[in-house]
Amino acid sequence: MTFKIVLLPGDGIGPEVTAAAVSVLDAVAARFGHRCQTTTCPIGGAGLRTSGVPLPAETLNACLAADAVLLGAVGDPDFDNIERHLRPEQGLLALRKTLGVYANLRPARTWPSLEDAGPLKASRVAGTDMLFVRELTGGLYFGEPRHIESDGSAALNTLRYSRDEITRVADVAFRMALGRRNLVTSVDKANVLETSQLWRSVTTGVAARYPGVRLEHMYVDACAMALALDPPRFDVVLTENLFGDILSDEAGAIVGSLGLLPSASIGERAGLYEPVHGSAPTLAGKDIANPIGAILSVGMMLRHSFKLVTEADAVDQAVGAVLLAGARTADLVAPSGGSGMSGSRMAQLIAEAVRG
Ligand code: IPM
Ligand code: MG
Repeated sequence: MTFKIVLLPGDGIGPEVTAAAVSVLDAVAARFGHRCQTTTCPIGGAGLRTSGVPLPAETLNACLAADAVLLGAVGDPDFDNIERHLRPEQGLLALRKTLGVYANLRPARTWPSLEDAGPLKASRVAGTDMLFVRELTGGLYFGEPRHIESDGSAALNTLRYSRDEITRVADVAFRMALGRRNLVTSVDKANVLETSQLWRSVTTGVAARYPGVRLEHMYVDACAMALALDPPRFDVVLTENLFGDILSDEAGAIVGSLGLLPSASIGERAGLYEPVHGSAPTLAGKDIANPIGAILSVGMMLRHSFKLVTEADAVDQAVGAVLLAGARTADLVAPSGGSGMSGSRMAQLIAEAVRG
């Protein structure tokens, strides 16, 4: 098979982790006899620098023609004070919207030997294996109207969800639960928000079509606490855009580091794959960022866009083996434990493990 992939390295540590992920993809192609055909395009601050916009037309057209898109990160402090529609983040949001990738899958699991990497007790996090299904193209991120009053006295955002938007993402969550432990925790704020009341009634309706899956509802504040108290109790966590953004960062801390988390955004067109972490400008260019989130995103690409289960499993297994052997980037080293290896060394070890 030939993988026609668009690479969007983006900003900050984006280019480093994307290069690391591509080196692992090359290892997969070499081992299993596939071919990689990649095109690299600018997005975010990189798009602003080359074309004056965060999502240049050529970038968008290349993504629309691709089988899959691999993104590093967007966000650049040099553009913090630019008008909102030109911010680097707008490039990513417009790309998600145009690709129609309404379901964002964010798996968060502990890895054997890594249970003590994060701030929680190892005994509390051991066995954590959850999948966030975050609605990605609706909610407060996209709701209209939105503005800041010209005199700066007030600002407005709109939280709106349609029945169809909730149904399609809930369907993804239930389908995912069927291949896992058959539990969907739907997270909302139905004691306060009308959108959450609709969310609850629609997800309950969707659940009726999946008799083998149990649905529970949880308020987002209670969920934030339960995630820290008892993370192994969660299987699939289904939630709206902003709650999912917040809770998935919390999940990163729970399993040891945000740098470990991959994501797959799926929907109407090509899938978009990106680590959950941001551009981390203070780490950029030092080769210390953890590339595992980006590498596991390649695994998700193989699984979801190319339906190559053996190849995807090989990536996950290589990451597991390398971590089990003690490889650690700085973010995974306990405070007293030294400095950790470089991101490129970590990627090299994982690529070698894939080649076998
Ligand atoms: C994420 C990021 C993005 C988001 C930003 C960069 C727009 O935080 O993917 O979680 O809020 O969705
Ligand atoms: Mg986020």
